[in-house]
Amino acid sequence: MSLEIIRDPEILQHRTLELKRTGKTIAVVPTMGALHTGHRTLIAEGRRRADILIVSIFVNPTQFAPNEDLDKYPRTFDADAEMCRAEGVDFIFFPTNDAMYPTGYATYVEVENLGATLCGLTRPTHFRGVTTVCTKLFLITQADFAIFGWKDAQQQIIIRRMVNDLNIPVEIIGVETVREPDGLALSSRNKYLTPEDRIDAVVLSRALSAARALVLQQAETCAKRIREEIITRIEQQSHGVVDYVCVVAQNTLQPLDVIEPGNTLIALAVWWGATRLIDNIRL
Ligand code: PAJ
Repeated sequence: MSLEIIRDPEILQHRTLELKRTGKTIAVVPTMGALHTGHRTLIAEGRRRADILIVSIFVNPTQFAPNEDLDKYPRTFDADAEMCRAEGVDFIFFPTNDAMYPTGYATYVEVENLGATLCGLTRPTHFRGVTTVCTKLFLITQADFAIFGWKDAQQQIIIRRMVNDLNIPVEIIGVETVREPDGLALSSRNKYLTPEDRIDAVVLSRALSAARALVLQQAETCAKRIREEIITRIEQQSHGVVDYVCVVAQNTLQPLDVIEPGNTLIALAVWWGATRLIDNIRL
């Protein structure tokens, strides 16, 4: 199949329902575009998983608060389409805001508790927007598989909870964070960093690696000490301003006192100027 760009949700859903009837499996990679190698890795995973591969490109307004960077969010559709073509994508779903949220739109999907911590502390309406748009994307694409990056660990954990709770027949596939050679997690927001801040930002992955070494090599189990180690490194080795550094249980996202092997997420968000970067490791 060659790449097809579909803008109308009804038309795409009509096509996917038809494909399902003929026994095809479908994978979706939800994105907001400005595609980079991180997204590309998710797309390649989707290609391996299913007969039909759909990439959605939609800068979802409901997950941005009024003071956030919705208008400034990078939009690079032509380059994105090129990447999709090269990766053998079958459909790009590229809807308009009006098609996704027509006048009178009134329905939201909210996962309780998990969306209120970590990034939810400063972005209280963010995850409600994410879960709402992902529910719509799962229904429109009829996907058997949906590919998400661990770069956004809280997002993926919330989506997994939602899919379980609502019996949505889609399997969530997690892909490990793709990084620059110096360790910085790839992100569409990295391009907002000044050259100095870009160098500074390597502190995030270094601090997380140091935390991993503390746990795995020095058998440190005290969450408070690990948290302090990360914060000290960021404050001493960069000009970044810490939003949060949290050691939480992966299943509940509630703070841990003691590291739980196999169920620990160390997540952080740090500001450089107006740019907020996130990163995490799972232990
Ligand atoms: P976006 O930020 O475009 O990310 C799309 C997907 O790419 C997410 O699953 C994200 O975790 C993954 N991703 C981004 N950077 C990555 C990296 N360096 N390594 C691995 N995966 C990476 O996340 C969103 O869009 C939106 O919230 C969305 C789910 C599309 C809903 O609007």
